[in-house]
Amino acid sequence: MTGVAILGFGTVGSGVYDVINTNSGVLELKSGDKIEVKKVLDLRDFPGNPVEKVLTKDFEEILNDPDIGIIAEAMGGVEPAFTFTKRALAMGKSVVTSNKELVAKHGPELMKLARTNGVSYLFEASVGGGIPIIRPLCVSLAADEILEISGILNGTTNYILTKMTEEGKSFDEVLKDAQQLGYAEANPAADVEGHDACRKIAILSSLAFGETVNYEHIYTEGITKITHIDIEYSKKLNCLIKLIGSSKKSKNGISAKVSPCLISKEHPLSAVNGVYNAIFVKGNMSGNTMYYGSGAGKLPTASAVVADIVDAVRHKGLTVNIGWDCDVQACVADIKEADVKAMIRIASDNFEAAKKSIIEVFGDVQFVDLDVQDDEFAIITNEETEGSMAEKVEKIATMSGVGEIRNLIRMEA
Ligand code: NDP
Ligand code: HSE
Repeated sequence: MTGVAILGFGTVGSGVYDVINTNSGVLELKSGDKIEVKKVLDLRDFPGNPVEKVLTKDFEEILNDPDIGIIAEAMGGVEPAFTFTKRALAMGKSVVTSNKELVAKHGPELMKLARTNGVSYLFEASVGGGIPIIRPLCVSLAADEILEISGILNGTTNYILTKMTEEGKSFDEVLKDAQQLGYAEANPAADVEGHDACRKIAILSSLAFGETVNYEHIYTEGITKITHIDIEYSKKLNCLIKLIGSSKKSKNGISAKVSPCLISKEHPLSAVNGVYNAIFVKGNMSGNTMYYGSGAGKLPTASAVVADIVDAVRHKGLTVNIGWDCDVQACVADIKEADVKAMIRIASDNFEAAKKSIIEVFGDVQFVDLDVQDDEFAIITNEETEGSMAEKVEKIATMSGVGEIRNLIRMEA
């Protein structure tokens, strides 16, 4: 028998409890051992819930229980999750987690500690919720050099953008729904400002390229500036707006970013709606593969956490190697060097003068007018570097006829 402790009985932790109890037969078959929840740590009481029998408020009880071999950390945040994880690994207990904030910030240190103690630190649920992506990257694509990885990596923002586009709902209203459904982070700014997707693309890049990618070096923009007017433009252009995280090898290092992006309705990611996520991986041998599923939510995420528990049971006494060199820091290329094409919304009280100014700076661009907004127009730029585009945007802002630059949304190249 392998005893499991769950840290945190919230959305994911309670899901882990349910998956282990509901699928005990399947888990025994797949892992070769009986898996049992011995303890659950939470700050709250859960009167009437069967979990009460195994509930504790004292982490030491878990740490000192020799029957507990694996800990599922589902508290979130950096502390005390970091300290608890270090102490568990040092005691020879494997740790599995859905906590991408912790993996992105301290993953390499924790993986090294796991190796030193002959156990594993696994985090399939930290990216893409219930989508199998970490294991496919490390195992199924082990024969490939990964060239590029990109996708929709946050369920909350994809849910918000979908509802704003399809139902005309307001940002705040849909964010509340996403919180009620258990998709959003404890502080939803992490979702809507793009930080969550940034941590996920950093984790994926580290696994894909084998070196530690510092998430703090990745250019990140969220969806808080996206308005219904932006969505009207996207419809006119036969596009959708999605929050995309992307990363690829370039001559200047790893070129990674997170930002809203206009993608054509023909693009495969345009069919990824609601809480669903999808991730593209381009390998030098396998070509393109794509992974799709629920990007957040109780049971899909818990399923990924429990799959890691099964893996840890299968590898009892060993460390699961995931091919991430924890001692090498990757060079993240300056965003200014990246190629970009964008839609830029420009307010103007003199369209003729403004368009003349724009052609002077940007050359031959496509102009887009919107019937529902007559004090502005948009341009679709040609592809150039981010640095050069930023300079041009700054320049036109001072030119004849050009008013406020209302938004700039990147476009799929
Ligand atoms: P919740 O807030 O629903 O659950 C966290 C639980 O941990 C709460 O019950 C919380 O108690 C408890 N907790 C927090 N601190 C402590 C502590 N010091 N000691 C004991 N218990 C504690 O979060 P989620 O389940 O949504 O998320 C957990 C982790 O999984 C996060 O890292 C999140 O990013 C990640 N994740 C979440 C997904 C989702 O769909 N929700 C999907 C993929 C990953 P209290 O409420 O009293 O603070
Ligand atoms: N808040 C995250 C999301 C949870 O919405 O994608 C899954 O990581």
